[in-house]
Amino acid sequence: MANDYLLEVKEVSKRFSGVQALKDVTFGVRRGEVRALIGENGAGKSTLIKILSGIHEADSGTIFFNGTEVNIQTPRQAQELGIATVHQELNLVSALTVSENVFMGRLPFTKSAIVNWQKLHKDTEEVFKKLGIQISPRAVVGTLGVAQRQFVEIAKALSQGAQLVIMDEPTSSLSAGEIRKLFEVINTLKASGITFIFVSHKLEELYEIADSVTVLRDGEFIQTRDIHDCTIEELVQLMVGREITTMFPKIQVEIGEPVLEVENLSRTGEFHDISFNLSAGEILGISGLVGAGRTELARCLYGITRPDSGHIYLDGEECVIRKPLDAIKAGICLVPEDRKSQGLIMKMSVQHNVSLAILSRLKRLLGFVDSAKEADEVEGAVSQLRIKTPSVKQIVGNLSGGNQQKVVFAKEALANPKVLILDEPTRGVDVGAKAEIHRLIGAFVQEGGAVLMISSELPEILGMSDRILVMSKGKIVQEFASHEATQEKILSCAL
Ligand SMILES: Nc1ncnc2c1ncn2[C@@H]1O[C@H](COP(=O)(O)OP(=O)(O)OP(=O)(O)O)[C@@H](O)[C@H]1O
Ligand SMILES: [Mg+2]
Repeated sequence: MANDYLLEVKEVSKRFSGVQALKDVTFGVRRGEVRALIGENGAGKSTLIKILSGIHEADSGTIFFNGTEVNIQTPRQAQELGIATVHQELNLVSALTVSENVFMGRLPFTKSAIVNWQKLHKDTEEVFKKLGIQISPRAVVGTLGVAQRQFVEIAKALSQGAQLVIMDEPTSSLSAGEIRKLFEVINTLKASGITFIFVSHKLEELYEIADSVTVLRDGEFIQTRDIHDCTIEELVQLMVGREITTMFPKIQVEIGEPVLEVENLSRTGEFHDISFNLSAGEILGISGLVGAGRTELARCLYGITRPDSGHIYLDGEECVIRKPLDAIKAGICLVPEDRKSQGLIMKMSVQHNVSLAILSRLKRLLGFVDSAKEADEVEGAVSQLRIKTPSVKQIVGNLSGGNQQKVVFAKEALANPKVLILDEPTRGVDVGAKAEIHRLIGAFVQEGGAVLMISSELPEILGMSDRILVMSKGKIVQEFASHEATQEKILSCAL
């Protein structure tokens, strides 16, 4: 019998201390298809991918690639087989150039044993040409945005002659335009016979790119379906095994006095002449393309960087924020975009990460840290947000990506600030937890908090905000009241 499966996974299981991440997972992926892999946060998607890419070893089960049983023990072996992976947390070396990253471990040398830079850059350029994207081979990766870094990873996969490209949430940090570009690239490669496994929490987009979808729940294989035979509601049902209620439960809240006033704030090369007010009870959405200066503005308001000019007022008084501690003292908290480098201390437990932010409040209230109270608050947040962890003592680095995001959110929300700045608060978070985070944002403003929410997801911006600012090239180009905004209007301003 002809075998048209490129990849077959048979009864694969994997256990971490206290967690059965995968249980007898069995499924196949056909040559040349784009297979979506979906499931709630902690369902086991990344674990499966790490097994296929030689990072983790399965406890039991077998894997067939091109019809033969394979034993993938190292990333190198995966690469040699023709399996390339773009991981959830990108793995490029920031200090090196694009070319060096693409040809990592395979640099061309001249006869005199020095790197043949000319050939290297030229080969890299060739790869990008095939992908139809423009990135300078000489650029240092650290200076690139997430989208570009992702293309560098894809270029690397392509240059390795991969037959199977696995992408773990590639679109979670991309803007609509960048996603379109990524899909074009995937389609081009698919036409040349390359197979994809594609993880995403944005179910709508699967209809644009995937042929079929495999659902995992609690480490178990649930079903593989033809994507076009399956509605979003069915997918959600398969993922969570229960009904999910409304996605953006916007609560009407009385808008109070201005809390945060920003006047003519500028920082060279990042944003220019930014002025706006944010009132108690209000959710102010900031929309725009990646690179519009939104994250830079958030970082500046939080004191990570300093403005070149302009003023910030809190409760009517000028507030000079030189460092994050000044912001926290003044009552401004930030849920950052990049949880890995800014939001969390990966080697510390969930409890310690969350309580970092509430420590000062507990101290202020009680004069000492009441560790029982601390544990209570953290436990409460963990169960409310359904953070999937064997205990609050678990090391944050061991949680799944979406659950890490929930920890970052819990940490800042518990600190109970006046102004909560959210930079892509639901990135990588599954549908159920997203609704939960939205509910908590609602509860926060209901109590009189003020929220500045940056999001690249237009339905989130439209569903949650009272007002929407659109940024483009470092400037505010438009303001909408939420009832007058539409996706089209926002996009046309952002461009
Ligand atoms: N190194 C590890 N040590 C301990 N537990 C782990 C480790 N890696 C993953 N886990 C646990 O295994 C389970 C599956 O995690 P995995 O990262 O595969 O989920 P996921 O489906 O990718 O979720 P997300 O959508 O949030 O990225 C989770 O409960 C996670 O906490
Ligand atoms: Mg994951």
